[in-house]
This record gives sequence, structure tokens and C-alpha cells, in this order.
Amino acid sequence: MQPKHTTFLLVGIIIVLAAILVGMLVYVRNQPVQPRTFQPLVEIQPMEPDSSVWGINFPNQWNSFQKTAANNIATTYGGSSQLSWLERDPRQLILFKGMPFSRDYNEDRGHANSLIDLRHTKRLNLNPEDPKRSPGTCYSCKTADAPRLWAEMGTTEFYKTFFGDLGQQVNHPVGCANCHEAGTMRLIVTNPALEEALQAQGKDWTTFSRQEMRSIVCANCHVEYYFEGPGRYLVFPWSRGTTVEEMWEYYENELVNGEKFADWVYPDTQTRMIKVQHPEYELFTASSTHYNAGLACADCHMPYVRDGAAKYSSHDVKSPLLMPELSCGQCHSDVQYVVRRVNLIQDQVYNTKIAAEDAIVDAINALAAASANPNADPALLEQARLLHRRAHFYWDFISAENSMGFHNPEYALKILAEATNFARQAQMLAAQAVNDVSLLKTGTFYQQGNP
Ligand code: HEC
Ligand code: HEC
Ligand code: HEC
Ligand code: HEC
Repeated sequence: MQPKHTTFLLVGIIIVLAAILVGMLVYVRNQPVQPRTFQPLVEIQPMEPDSSVWGINFPNQWNSFQKTAANNIATTYGGSSQLSWLERDPRQLILFKGMPFSRDYNEDRGHANSLIDLRHTKRLNLNPEDPKRSPGTCYSCKTADAPRLWAEMGTTEFYKTFFGDLGQQVNHPVGCANCHEAGTMRLIVTNPALEEALQAQGKDWTTFSRQEMRSIVCANCHVEYYFEGPGRYLVFPWSRGTTVEEMWEYYENELVNGEKFADWVYPDTQTRMIKVQHPEYELFTASSTHYNAGLACADCHMPYVRDGAAKYSSHDVKSPLLMPELSCGQCHSDVQYVVRRVNLIQDQVYNTKIAAEDAIVDAINALAAASANPNADPALLEQARLLHRRAHFYWDFISAENSMGFHNPEYALKILAEATNFARQAQMLAAQAVNDVSLLKTGTFYQQGNP
């Protein structure tokens, strides 16, 4: 080939390549800029109750959240099947005699079921004639409509509106608006009772670290609370602190209309009783090993998962025992070992809990017999009732807490040991009040047969 032809050919190739390159650069330049940061597809209104609207912008979080609707696998002491605690452990029919938990008490399920499960519970009192019928307060922890309604109606009005009436404006289960601020997506305190409880302790959550927020959002609901006064105002008994001892002091000393608070009066013993709710936050934060190591609720219950290149927090909130590789495997290399530890801890706590229940049943039987005796020493009876109230409160603090002690094993066992001690003291004082040693007999639950 002639050198001249070679030059032409080379120049031709170079021109063609240059043209392609220029064309490509022009094409690329004309493409829209790929967002580096997140671009919302829809604008979410403040306190939007419908999680599916948020889901348009955040499909991974929304899809994982929706899984909580169908979860139904049981673990030994938890999981998402609606097993009845009353059938499993009939002592609780005696312990809760005279109050709604003796009618219906099932294991909890996932967040998407919160509204259905609330509306189906036999614990509700919907009788329009009854002044003590269930208040709107019950909706506080069950629906993403609550933040919007608190803002629109005010908290006082929300609480005192009767359950059936408020329910007409409630259509969504727990959702994004219970934990996030629309727009910024930051985690926030949404429940006014939590806001007030933190204030009472001199704490300002807007100064909390990110890790603290990953637990405090759960404290919007997973806490001990009570309804105060005729307006059924929602209060967390936290002003003296959040341990069982500090909350007991609260209930003994903060009087409501000159009286100690009581959820109900035990029928046969006339004891003023407290029903504990679900103090997951309080048990976990009472210096548990994991809390002291800096963990938050979300570390075990909302582990990170991957979708291709994207990493997000699983919003399929459930028992970590159903996903131990994700929940525990981030930190513990021997996942099977720690799961076996959980099983062992829970068995020990469960057996200790049953022993406390047996002691409380013995106390109730002795106290009921003594209360029916007109010659009983009234001062000793009062002391025995106070011990019954205290034994029940301590026992229920662990029983109503949903981890069967795992969130804080040592403290759970200590609290149950104290419950047993208080119950046995109550029984002894009741026997002394009527001078009748036959009331000291133990194991009365087994002698009576199952109720
Ligand atoms: C170190 C891991 C870990 C941390 C941190 C943790 N949990 Fe748990 N949680 C567990 C385990 C394990 C169980 C027991 C599950 C079972 O029995 O199936 C549990 C049980 C529960 C349950 C009952 C689950 C069910 O299946 O019914 C709830 C509710 C719960 N935790 C809420 C919380 C809250 C709220 C926090 C923070 C205050 C928290 N957890 C912190 C590990 C953890
Ligand atoms: C707005 C109230 C609310 C908030 C906030 C909330 N929960 Fe719940 N949670 C509930 C209710 C109500 C249930 C029980 C629903 C049912 O049984 O239908 C529940 C159930 C659960 C369960 C049991 C699920 C199952 O399948 O058994 C776990 C675990 C749990 N929550 C953990 C958490 C954690 C961790 C946080 C914080 C990241 C949190 N929750 C925040 C109200 C809330
Ligand atoms: C029970 C409380 C709770 C609810 C309900 C909730 N989230 Fe979250 N969300 C969290 C927590 C805790 C984190 C972790 C935040 C962190 O690590 O700073 C989170 C993180 C996020 C993030 C940041 C990215 C990530 O995955 O870590 C987005 C986006 C998000 N959630 C969207 C949603 C959407 C959409 C909904 C409703 C479908 C929703 N969340 C419902 C508690 C909640
Ligand atoms: C973010 C890290 C982290 C995660 C996630 C985590 N752990 Fe731990 N765990 C720790 C640390 C730190 C300790 C304390 C170790 C020590 O003191 O030697 C610990 C201790 C323990 C212990 C021993 C506690 C004792 O007092 O005997 C058990 C059991 C355990 N974890 C179980 C679990 C289980 C089950 C899960 C999952 C549900 C889990 N952990 C998730 C960090 C974690």
C-alpha cells in the first residue's frame, strides 16, 4: 500500500472517531443530571397518616413495613402468632380477676395489625350507656392518625372523646407518621405523653444523639403508662425515673384526686391494683448489658438489609429470633450460641415468673379469706393489701414486658424474686391478721385446680 493512502486512511479513521466522541459528549451533556441526593417523587404533608403515600418516596422501607401484616410465626415466648396467654397460663385468670385482661390477653403482632387487633379485643368497653366506657386515649399507640388528631383537636379533647366516636376519624394502623417528620424524615417524638414525661425529667429530646433517637421513637408506645382522672389523660409515670422501683415510688406518692392510682380493685381482697402495660423501653434502658454497650432498639429489631447497592433499615419489625443472622450476626460471630443463650435466659425467667405467680395466688387466697373474716386486724390487712399491690406490680412489670426477660436478664430475675418475696409477706400478714396458720398453705393454685 502507498504511504499516501495509509495517511488518508488513518486521518479518516481519526475524523470518524473524533465525530463519534463529540456526538457522545453532546448526548451525555444533554441528559438530565442524575441526582446525587434523594429527590422526592411526591411531597408528603406534615403528619400524613397514610403510609402508602410515604411509600412512593421510600419503597424499600414501605415494602418491608408491609411484611408486618402477614407475619404469623411463633417463637417459644414471642413471635407474631396470637396465642392466648390466658389459655397457656390460667394463673393469670386469677391474677387479673375483675379486670379486662382476664377476658382477653393475646401475644402481640406486627405494626400493620395494630388497628385491627385493638378493635377486635374483648377488653374494650363500647357500651354507650356506661360512663366508664373505653376512651379515645386507647388509640394513642395504635394509629398513624394520632399525631394529626392531637394537632387538630388538642390532646385533652382527643383523650376524653369516647373510643367509638374518635374511631370514626381513625383509619390507619401504626405508620411512618408515628416515628418520622415528613419532609426531613428525621426521627421525632410524636406522642405528647412522651414529650411531657421527658420534660418532667428535665430532658429535651431534640438534643438527643442519633443512637438515642433509635430507641426513643419506640418509647412513643413501648412503655408503662396510665390514664389519669376523668378526662383519661395519658401519662407515663416517669418523673422520679424509669426503673421499677422509681415507678413504684411514683404510684405510691403521686396522688390522683387525693387517692393512690388504681386500674381496678381486686374483688375478693379489696386491693387497689395497678396493671402494668409493656415497659420494653424501661427494662432495656435500666443498665442492661446491651444498653450499656450502646445498643438501641433498632439495632436488633430494624437491622440493615441490602437491596442491590442500597442499604436500608428493615421496617419489618418483629422478633429478632426470626432473623438472628441479621439481628445478632452484625456483632456476634457465633449466632447459634447467642440464640441458645436467649432460649436459656427466657426459660429461666419464665419458670421464675411462674413461681412468683404461684406465690401471688397463695397470697390472694389467704387475703381473701382474711378479708371475709369480720374479726381480722384491719391494720395488718391493710399492710397485706399493700404488699399484694406491690407483688403484682413487680411481677407484671416482667410479665407484660414482651421479651421474657431477655432485654435485661439480671434485673428481670431480681424483680421477680422481689415479687415472690412481697407475695409471701402478704400471705403471712393475712394469716396473722386472723391468727390462722392454715392460711399459710402453699401451692393453692394446684389444689384448687385450674379455673
Ligand atoms: C440485643 C438485641 C435487642 C435489643 C437492643 C432490643 N431487643 Fe427487643 N427483643 C429482643 C429479643 C431477642 C426478643 C425476644 C423475642 C422472642 O421471644 O421471640 C425481643 C422481644 C421484643 C418484643 C416482643 C417481640 C415479639 O415477638 O412479640 C418487643 C415488643 C421488643 N423486643 C421491643 C424492643 C424495644 C422497644 C427495644 C428498645 C427499648 C428493644 N426491643 C431492644 C432483642 C432485642
Ligand atoms: C405508635 C406506637 C408504636 C411505636 C412508635 C412502636 N411500636 Fe412496636 N408495636 C406497637 C403496637 C400497638 C404493637 C402490637 C400490634 C398488635 O399486636 O397488633 C407493636 C408490636 C411490636 C413488636 C411485635 C411484633 C410481632 O410481630 O410480634 C415489636 C418487636 C415492636 N413492636 C418493636 C418496636 C420497635 C423496636 C419500635 C421502635 C423502632 C416500635 N416498636 C415502635 C406500637 C408501636
Ligand atoms: C416505629 C418507628 C418507625 C416507623 C413506624 C417507621 N420508621 Fe422509618 N425509621 C425508623 C428508624 C428507627 C430508622 C433508623 C434511623 C437511623 O438509623 O437514624 C428509620 C429509617 C428510615 C429511613 C432512613 C433510611 C434507612 O432505611 O435507614 C427512611 C427513608 C424511612 N425510615 C422511611 C420510613 C417510611 C416510608 C415509613 C412508613 C412506611 C417508616 N419509615 C416508618 C423508625 C420508623
Ligand atoms: C451492635 C452490636 C450487638 C448486637 C446487634 C447484638 N449484640 Fe449481644 N452483645 C453485644 C455486646 C457489646 C455485648 C457485651 C459483650 C461483653 O460485655 O463481653 C453483648 C452481649 C450479649 C450476650 C451476653 C450478655 C450477658 O449478660 O451474658 C448475649 C447472650 C447476647 N449479647 C445476645 C445477643 C442476641 C441474641 C442478639 C440479637 C438478637 C444480640 N446479642 C445482638 C453487642 C451486640
